[in-house]
Amino acid sequence: MRSPIIKRLATISLVFIFLVILAGSIVRATGSGMGCPDWPQCFGYTIPPTDVETLTWRDNRGFEEGQMILRYNHFWVANSDFTTSTTFNQLNWSKYDRHDYSIFNPVHTWIEFVNRLIGALSGIPILILAVLAVISARKNPMNAILSVAVLFLLLFEAWLGKTVVDGNLVPNQITIHMMGSVGIVLLLLMLRARNETEAPRLPKVLVVTLLILLSLTITQIFLGTQTRELVDAALDNGMTQRIDIIPGVKSSLPEIHRSFAWLILVVASILVYAKRATKASIPGFNALIFGIALEWAVGLVLYFLGLPEVMQPVHLVLSIAILSSISYPLFLSVRKT
Ligand code: HEM
Repeated sequence: MRSPIIKRLATISLVFIFLVILAGSIVRATGSGMGCPDWPQCFGYTIPPTDVETLTWRDNRGFEEGQMILRYNHFWVANSDFTTSTTFNQLNWSKYDRHDYSIFNPVHTWIEFVNRLIGALSGIPILILAVLAVISARKNPMNAILSVAVLFLLLFEAWLGKTVVDGNLVPNQITIHMMGSVGIVLLLLMLRARNETEAPRLPKVLVVTLLILLSLTITQIFLGTQTRELVDAALDNGMTQRIDIIPGVKSSLPEIHRSFAWLILVVASILVYAKRATKASIPGFNALIFGIALEWAVGLVLYFLGLPEVMQPVHLVLSIAILSSISYPLFLSVRKT
């Protein structure tokens, strides 16, 4: 049984997940990842500070447990609720030692905060989706399984988000985080496809070509995140001239990623040819081809024109859009009628 409500909720959740991915990428491109040193609160506040005044010790000021100050180039956390006296009493404070990051930049803080906010909001449609699907599990057990899996993956991502903050953005965790969002997108698309009223069957040759394109794209996304980790490592090592980053990388990963994109182009061309030959219609096909062309263009700009920050989120979001437009017609075509 198809459920239009589940389909609508899956669509809303997908929009949120895309926003989360976009916001996360903007966080990274602007270097705002440590804008909030703690999690889930930000400097111990639910709504983060806008100026350094809030993070400055003053006499006769009330603090709540967990709230932070910036003093002697370190963050300090209030041990309990208290009001300061005329002198700084270190016994009231613990040095924040989860990591040695101790900068307050309000723009970074707010970019990171909005990112977390979108992440938290994305939980609402996903939670409603899981509850509704579980309630009607008897009629449609697969909806319940998929929705609960999405919810668990989202919780895992939130937990990972916290460990990324605690670990001062350890690179591998960022890749796992990214592959987790890919998993959520795929599950939501599957769920949406199962509840779509019309599900065109594709000829076998198109299903096989799309499957090959899907596995190539997942591999390419993985290679892309590895390339990105090399870029981040170069930036962390103090490389300031972005144009020198890719030529200076002592690994062939960026070239592998670039060459692998040719494979995607070749298989996409085969798909265009096979579609013409079979005269079949693939939902979202034009968007897919346009997306691949655009991704190539953006990739070339990143590679040869010094990794412009504004292109990083575009490249990432396009990769998930491509993945979605490959998998959706596949999920529609292989679903049970
Ligand atoms: C056609 C399919 C392509 C896909 C699906 C794809 C996907 C990705 C992904 C997911 C990332 C990681 C982004 C991030 O984590 O922020 C990435 C990074 C990157 N890609 Fe691609 N890419 C493609 C093509 C290309 C091409 C053709 C080039 C260059 C010739 C290229 C150059 C780069 C570079 C330089 C990075 C690192 C950018 C950064 O650090 O932000 N990509 N790619």
